[in-house]
Amino acid sequence: MSTPSRTDIHDRRHIEQLVNSFYGEVRQDALLGPIFNGVIGDRWPEHLEKMYRFWATVLINESSYTGTPLRPHLPLPIGGTHFERWLHLFHQTVDRHFEGPVAELAKRNAARMATMFQERITLHRTHPQNFIQ
Ligand code: HEM
Ligand code: HEM
Repeated sequence: MSTPSRTDIHDRRHIEQLVNSFYGEVRQDALLGPIFNGVIGDRWPEHLEKMYRFWATVLINESSYTGTPLRPHLPLPIGGTHFERWLHLFHQTVDRHFEGPVAELAKRNAARMATMFQERITLHRTHPQNFIQ
């Protein structure tokens, strides 16, 4: 269901709403939930804080995230089906709460990141010698 009047993503409050809502869906998802819960366990508060910083850096110029986005994904048992589901849930969550240029940027950046991760995961599987362990 869409909120009657949706705004764009402007501030920290919007970022936190997006991230909380998205990972709320992810945790309940039959395909993705077990993978996330298996890795993250009782570290959800820390993961959410990190993801606020990531999206605030990408979308509202907060510059608070420094990290290695790719690395933790390399060993995960994930492929095309998982990324499709991830993106579907992300796009649905963005559209449910927000509309505007930054909301569109969020969806586009998520899709780019997903493509990049998939390419690098494939490379990691086929050419592990190219990655420092
Ligand atoms: C062709 C696509 C991309 C490539 C090759 C790429 C590559 C990289 C690399 C090598 C790093 C350094 C850390 C690491 O190894 O994980 C990095 C950091 C980062 N990337 Fe990307 N990236 C791409 C797309 C994106 C997209 C679409 C976003 C936004 C959703 C993004 C956001 C970031 C952020 C926020 C950091 C951390 C910056 C920091 O530590 O200061 N990247 N990226
Ligand atoms: C099926 C797809 C995906 C799965 C199963 C997945 C799973 C995970 C898990 C389990 C972690 C936590 C690792 C840890 O703390 O031990 C993580 C971290 C992270 N994920 Fe994903 N992810 C997926 C797709 C994406 C996409 C498409 C993006 C970007 C738009 C993304 C961005 C990040 C970032 C930025 C972190 C934090 C990395 C760090 O600095 O430690 N993930 N992911």
